[in-house]
Amino acid sequence: MTTTPNNLDYDALANLFWEQGFIVIEGFFDAKLMSETQSSIMSHFGDSPAYEHDQRFIDLSKTEVIPWFPQNQGHELFDKLENDMRLKKLTSQILGEAWKNQYCMVMFSKEGSKGQAWHQDCPPENSTQFNLNRLVYSMDVDHELGGQVYIRPGSHRLGALTQGPLFEDFDDQIVLSPKQGTLVLLHGHCWHRIGELKGKYRVSTNYRAAPRQAADSITDICVYRNMRYQFSTAKIVG
Ligand SMILES: [Fe+2]
Repeated sequence: MTTTPNNLDYDALANLFWEQGFIVIEGFFDAKLMSETQSSIMSHFGDSPAYEHDQRFIDLSKTEVIPWFPQNQGHELFDKLENDMRLKKLTSQILGEAWKNQYCMVMFSKEGSKGQAWHQDCPPENSTQFNLNRLVYSMDVDHELGGQVYIRPGSHRLGALTQGPLFEDFDDQIVLSPKQGTLVLLHGHCWHRIGELKGKYRVSTNYRAAPRQAADSITDICVYRNMRYQFSTAKIVG
């Protein structure tokens, strides 16, 4: 399905989201805004920041990502993206009018990162309890760079991840190579992973949202193939 950002069919996009568990819209944000965003992110991180998660979590989850919450430090540029009327309208079409913003998290990976193993952002047992990732790409992510996004379409309806290899290739997986300006919306129960990073660094920015009925702590427990991990206590909980 081809969509141009100035002519969005919100209804069709929402239907596609619920069918696949994700949608991709190329060129959603213009190049100038994305370049400013990228510069802001790079001046925060520099070239080679340190990982903040504890080593045990990194070892078990294979998640080598450094988060940053720019709105907590008053970076208004990030409000501008969040307040884009088209993004709000699309979110409402998917989640219903009473959705809530969670937070904006920039994710940085550096050279040699294994990426992120297959996971679900929150436990999938209750279909009303989920988060919505709204991923903005301010730089190109492609095969050469690595760090591509792997998704199993429709897996938001499959329940919990099966056990198995943490970076298994599934026959029905799709691989996204988002370009600068691309918006990806992804259901938190949808199985996804990030590929190994071959280039120097990779960043993406996630404007997390959730339906009204979702708990505020909805993404506190992340589901991996080998464990469930609770961020607030830094403990394995299942
Ligand atoms: Fe995720």
